[in-house]
Amino acid sequence: AAIRYHKWEVKYEYKSPDCYQKLVITINGQTPGPTIEAQQGDKIVVELKNSLVTENVAIHWHGIHQRGTPWFDGVAGVTQCPIVPGDTFVYKFVVDRPGTYLYHAHYGLQRANGLIGMIQVSLPPGVSEPYTYNSEKSIILTDWYHKSTFEQATGLLSIPFGWVGEPQSLLIQGKGSFNCSTPGIEAGLCNATNPECSPYVMTVVPGKTYKLRIGSLTSLEALSFEIEGHNMTVVEADGSNVEPFVVKNLFIYSGETYSVLIKADQAPTRNYWIVSTVVARNRTTPNGLAIFNYHPNNPKTSPPTVPPVGPAWNDVEPRLAQCQATKARQGYITPPPQKSDRVIVLLNTQNTINGYNRWSVNNVSFNLPNTPYLIAVKEKLHHVFNQSPPPNGYDHRHYDIFNPPTNPNATTSTSIYKLQFDSTVDIVIQNANALKPNDSETHPWHLHGHDFWVMGYGKGKFDIHKDPKKYNLVDPILKNTVSVQPYGWTALRFRANNPGVWYFHCHVEYHLFLGMGVVFEEGVEKLGKLPPSIYGCGDAKVSP
Ligand code: C2O
Ligand code: CU
Repeated sequence: AAIRYHKWEVKYEYKSPDCYQKLVITINGQTPGPTIEAQQGDKIVVELKNSLVTENVAIHWHGIHQRGTPWFDGVAGVTQCPIVPGDTFVYKFVVDRPGTYLYHAHYGLQRANGLIGMIQVSLPPGVSEPYTYNSEKSIILTDWYHKSTFEQATGLLSIPFGWVGEPQSLLIQGKGSFNCSTPGIEAGLCNATNPECSPYVMTVVPGKTYKLRIGSLTSLEALSFEIEGHNMTVVEADGSNVEPFVVKNLFIYSGETYSVLIKADQAPTRNYWIVSTVVARNRTTPNGLAIFNYHPNNPKTSPPTVPPVGPAWNDVEPRLAQCQATKARQGYITPPPQKSDRVIVLLNTQNTINGYNRWSVNNVSFNLPNTPYLIAVKEKLHHVFNQSPPPNGYDHRHYDIFNPPTNPNATTSTSIYKLQFDSTVDIVIQNANALKPNDSETHPWHLHGHDFWVMGYGKGKFDIHKDPKKYNLVDPILKNTVSVQPYGWTALRFRANNPGVWYFHCHVEYHLFLGMGVVFEEGVEKLGKLPPSIYGCGDAKVSP
């Protein structure tokens, strides 16, 4: 195994990803940041210098289990103290599984500012994937706001509530195109001919087959992704081999990755559109566009057609169908434990707390303490967080998930779930109506430190007696992020066998910011001494 060394400088710079100029966070001048390429078993070393000058930072390696290195999971307040301006922090971890993963900031709303990138882990020499292709490409999909994240955060934390609204653009590999003649746009800030916002081009050779790795790190939106006139065969999801299925539109939620195979089998005399479209929210954001360029056509030539408009935003059925079609590939199935030791039901609701808008889980809206949990648990600093356990479920007999909460008040808490080491845990995420009538949102939930088996999806209220009988005990996919559809539920199973403290949260940046998350702790007593570099904040000023 090799050591892959990266030296990164993180700073604010003016960029125009969608032709509109704003301050973004770059890594070595880029957003998305450099792709980390490695082979299974390699050790990644990232020496990160925080040159944000007035802000802390921390970077999470999304989908990497951090077995034996839970302190390098990169979540400020959970696994480390944030990296202060001017400091350099060294992340060191092993990539133990092949697949497509992501990285992004895990501090405040910095992810929405462009501090994102991809991790691609290939198989060791001599081992091959269960599918063939001629070459490989990758893209990251995002949504993009013109307002600064400081203004967004201030709005979200104000009375009256200032919602961030729909994004101005969708970016494909960091490039979009906002219409600079939109009324009210200050002249000089938007330049349609700026090369920074020229559409992303993917060049293909006619007749060849490509593996395309796709990751979504949107701040808010669920997306549909398509390549005009081409089908895609899904072969990987969050690092697991998928029993192949063909789609025209790939639905992808924030925090998910997929690999698809695409054959350049259409008329080679022209280019085609690559399109991302908002789904699951009434869309006002124009579609993201890039160019699927058949060699040797001019890569700058726009396709001769009107770009596909994408699927209806509110049609849940095809999205659910894709979720249900995503199963482990034959020959690559890791069977789940047939029983679980514990079931935790998590009701997702939108609430108010003292007039502030929040998101809650079982009526508790999560707040991070300023001393990282990992240190607090290990050093037994009991005063750092509420020591009573959070609720294991909600009042499912009386709670009406189809209507706004009769009592929208919730509470905030810092308490965390202690899981018995090596036990099998089932989590059922139950969606409900938001604050306004006839509105239930889609939430992609992401688990740090583990993959989970996706046991099943359902509509309406989860029935603890009937629904577990329908779980997929045969070939469920192992993922790290899964969607919960409006008014529906999703059930997961995982083994709590990775010593550490692990965030589990909605991957919508603004929902997480408003409390939509929980923390699991398992086996921290098994860990050796924590590295001194994660100390330096709250009640964890220096390593003992
Ligand atoms: Cu990709 Cu805690 O997130
Ligand atoms: Cu959410």
